[in-house]
Amino acid sequence: MALSSKDKLNLTVGKDNWFLNVPSNLKGKRLRTCDGPLGVREEKDYTYTYPSICFPSPASLASSFDKKLVYDINKEIGKEAKNRGISVMLSPGINIKRNTLCGRNFEYFSEDPVLSGLMAKSAIRGLEESGSAACVKHYLLNNFENSRFNISHNVDDKALNEIYLKNFMIAIKEGKPSSIMTSYNLVNGKYISESKEFLDLPRNKWGFSGLYISDWGGVRDKKTALLSGLDVEMPHSNKNDELVDQLDDLSESLERTTKNITKFIKKYGYREKERKDVNNGRDLASYAVANSIILLKNEENILPIGKPEKIALIGHLAEEPCYAGYGSSQVTPINVLRLKDRLIKYIDNISYTPGYDKDGKTNDKFLEKIEECVKGKEKVVFVLGALPFHEGEGWDRGNMEIPRGMLVALAKAYSINPNIIVLLEAGSPLEIEDVKKYAKGILLSYMGGEMMAEGEALVLSGKVSPSGRLAETWPKSFKDSPIYYNYNRDIYNLYQTESIYVGYRYYDKAKIDVSYPFGYGLSYSKFLFTKLKCRISKKELIAKVTVKNIGDVSQSTPIMLYISKEDSNTFRPIKELIGFEKVFLNKNEKKRIKISVPLDYLKVYDFDTKDMVLEDGEYILLIGDSSVNLSLNKTFTLKGVTLNKDLKAKVPEYFYIKDNKFPLSSFKRIFDNDINHDGSSKKADWNTVFKNLTSLPNGRLARDTFYKAIEELYKGDDERIERSKRDIQYFPFRIIKTFSGIQNDEIFKLIFSIVNGE
Ligand code: BGC
Repeated sequence: MALSSKDKLNLTVGKDNWFLNVPSNLKGKRLRTCDGPLGVREEKDYTYTYPSICFPSPASLASSFDKKLVYDINKEIGKEAKNRGISVMLSPGINIKRNTLCGRNFEYFSEDPVLSGLMAKSAIRGLEESGSAACVKHYLLNNFENSRFNISHNVDDKALNEIYLKNFMIAIKEGKPSSIMTSYNLVNGKYISESKEFLDLPRNKWGFSGLYISDWGGVRDKKTALLSGLDVEMPHSNKNDELVDQLDDLSESLERTTKNITKFIKKYGYREKERKDVNNGRDLASYAVANSIILLKNEENILPIGKPEKIALIGHLAEEPCYAGYGSSQVTPINVLRLKDRLIKYIDNISYTPGYDKDGKTNDKFLEKIEECVKGKEKVVFVLGALPFHEGEGWDRGNMEIPRGMLVALAKAYSINPNIIVLLEAGSPLEIEDVKKYAKGILLSYMGGEMMAEGEALVLSGKVSPSGRLAETWPKSFKDSPIYYNYNRDIYNLYQTESIYVGYRYYDKAKIDVSYPFGYGLSYSKFLFTKLKCRISKKELIAKVTVKNIGDVSQSTPIMLYISKEDSNTFRPIKELIGFEKVFLNKNEKKRIKISVPLDYLKVYDFDTKDMVLEDGEYILLIGDSSVNLSLNKTFTLKGVTLNKDLKAKVPEYFYIKDNKFPLSSFKRIFDNDINHDGSSKKADWNTVFKNLTSLPNGRLARDTFYKAIEELYKGDDERIERSKRDIQYFPFRIIKTFSGIQNDEIFKLIFSIVNGE
């Protein structure tokens, strides 16, 4: 039976929180979505998610520089999803880490678009080849959590094309995901789910033929969204009620959505079946951690630790690790390992004391115990970093500080025994200059999932030699960051005045000293690079190099390829990553490695033709095992276009970067747009941001009334009450309805009437 227009409209909204609506001609099939990217977050109901393996976070996996590893893990996740009757994994998340404080950085790969794009491609292939659908997210620029529902990221076309669209281009063109999730935020004054321009791009230019799914509660104007190219609004809402008498206007869009949704459900939908937990992949997860850990410092070769050495292990994180973050990625783990239990497998003589409590606080008692514990030991392993679940979705971190108690405890240990190895656990960069002073050795695990402790023990004991490299810069402090001066000023407009100078592109160019640069990392072995060859074909740059393990340890190493162009007519970073591989080499073994790079990766934005082009002329190719050890280079020439050289005279401040001020007046010369998105409202309605209530008449009364409703709902759970109140501050009411647990429309109507006086 043919579907009526109303049936078709009904398909464009979720059936509930996770399921899609299914056309009547596919009766019996069901299609369930489920969160990732750390594992299968299968919700039974609002209060319970079934246990499943919590794999290392993308922040951790990106540091492996190992595409195959990311593929394998996602294949395992995809298989598990299938076992449980789940069709779509809402993963990978690939937003560029522009903002060091972004609460969701642990869910994303990198500050670099090629690293992020290629890791995303591997994750997508892993999921898709297991038979699950990938949903790459959040398209586009969702990297500021505090105001993600309202903020317009105002960004120039050069940065947009060379950085923020580039990783999505690689992921979508090469990874071929079956679906894309549109982000909550606006870009240049337009909600992505309402932007024909941004939704057309993957379909028309990158070969995307799948489904656009909105982020949860992310559709504001449903009609415009459907007309612009969105297929499915998630989760269920009543927005379609207002569209039933506008079906004629929507007929063309509904043809498209019905076709896309039907094709999707035919391919990925399941008949109802018994769900099954299998949970394979715990060994893979610990192998992944060991291969992602980064060795940042190794003075006097303090690492690895020998089996018979006498060791003091300090830090509450060794009992309760910082293995994952808060939010939609949070899976219920099977069994979170503790370093305290794992290290004794590999090292005979260990004494443990927590040193600080679960909140990162210390006191005289803890400090006394530290004294007893570290005395007479050959080495001290001190675990510190971020507190578990203090980084997460919905808000940015307030700062990059390590809890003070951890540092006081570290200083105490150091005052008695200076042979300190610090093991860092965190979702994103911390200020570690003090840590560097105290530690002879530093290892960084990021958030390594439930098997993190096993991976850490393998590396500490030298069973695996570290081969991770930083996928983002660790600046000395947030004050040094290129976004410092325009962070969090306005909840509606965020001018990305630093343009392309994101992460290392800024620190290199402005010559800012950082704690550790992008691409940095040491090993227990050494590698020699020789015989670099470079060839340009019609579509690719092909580099070949011989890599030999000349150290004492058999291990993997990344091989990184950068380019640099000194005489460019456009502004560029000092160098940029264009490709990488990872290879395992036994002692004395050598291999010839080939890295092929699509020439598209080398393109830059031409302000004149408004297109991505190859710039004519000479380039330098740099290769090595870390960004600070690019031991070989070669010059090559590209035939392309000569860019207009007037740009240098027009915006010299983007060619010669002095500091991180990036004034709006300069930015306006590369951003010829008059955008000033005003999200504030004069009255209270579904789009009013909660924090703004108080600027409206009777706003305080309305705010307190809503707080009362929350207190009533979560009576007895003070922590939940506090968290809910904090979470909703930057939420518009349409989102509060989706997430706060308050489902009854009456309370919202009451709030609106208090303010609007109706
Ligand atoms: C997050 C998405 C997630 C979705 C469903 C949203 O709040 O931004 O990443 O997939 O919720 O849980």
